[in-house]
Amino acid sequence: MMHVSMRQLRTFEAVARLKSFSRAADELHVTQPTVSKQIRLLHEEVGLSLLEQIGKRVFLTEAGEELYATCANWLETWGCFEQTIANFKGIKQGRLRIAVVTTAKYFLPRLLGPFCSLYPGIDVALEVVNRDRLLERMARNQDDLYIMGVPPQELSIESEPFLENPLVVLAPATHPMSGRACIRFEELAHEPFIVREHGSGTRLTVERVFLERNVPLKIKMEIGSNEAIKQAVAGGLGLALLSQSTLSLDPSEKEIAILNVEGFPIRRSWYVVRLRDKQLSIVAGTFLDFLRTHVQLLAPRH
Ligand code: PGA
Repeated sequence: MMHVSMRQLRTFEAVARLKSFSRAADELHVTQPTVSKQIRLLHEEVGLSLLEQIGKRVFLTEAGEELYATCANWLETWGCFEQTIANFKGIKQGRLRIAVVTTAKYFLPRLLGPFCSLYPGIDVALEVVNRDRLLERMARNQDDLYIMGVPPQELSIESEPFLENPLVVLAPATHPMSGRACIRFEELAHEPFIVREHGSGTRLTVERVFLERNVPLKIKMEIGSNEAIKQAVAGGLGLALLSQSTLSLDPSEKEIAILNVEGFPIRRSWYVVRLRDKQLSIVAGTFLDFLRTHVQLLAPRH
């Protein structure tokens, strides 16, 4: 029987996740020698090497990977227990882990302010990644809730639409089509487009839209950022299809126009997604209820 303390496991989990002793020490608010000591004690108890340090980088051995997966499960179970006990006492507290696709960064953080002031005991870890990275996180069960525009078919999930996510065609304000009333979709075949990177939900949707209408998509440039795409459109490099969520009151956006293309805006939704077999933690359930009742806070600004 191994005698391993909770402290050692928490320390190991942080080092393995952050791949660094010093960052783990910062996160746990202890000194680096304390982290090293906890890891040494754990090594002695397990009797096998768990971590290898090469230069400043930390790598997990096979045994380390096993322990990391065990720790992640255990910490999650323990976190749920702590939340349940806090809930019995009438307090909502604990950590809420949300991962959102890049394009959701325009509205989701605005919601966290009111949520966190309503529930000061809940702290939020927010990851912003593209759709492919989000699916990887989902497959590894790394977060409580996910926010995305195109939920996956291949994973066993529950998804709930909560907000409109229209897709619009953007052009420089000086473009000859800007301000025209009825633009046929086929006319876009002659225009160069700036698109998001492969693995982005927006890119997936754009390719689908052109394929369904049997119109060739002329890609002029691929850029991995909505912001940079808008700047490129404003600069006259081409047109783009983006979520309307990416448009804000930024004055530079006066240089961009939304084109009146037939069939646009394409009506889509933002979804909040969770794994079907995962038990929703108390804080995740609290956030889901908050989202359902506070969606008006997210009313599009255009
Ligand atoms: P993206 O996702 O930010 O990865 O393009 C947007 C979406 O899922 O609609």
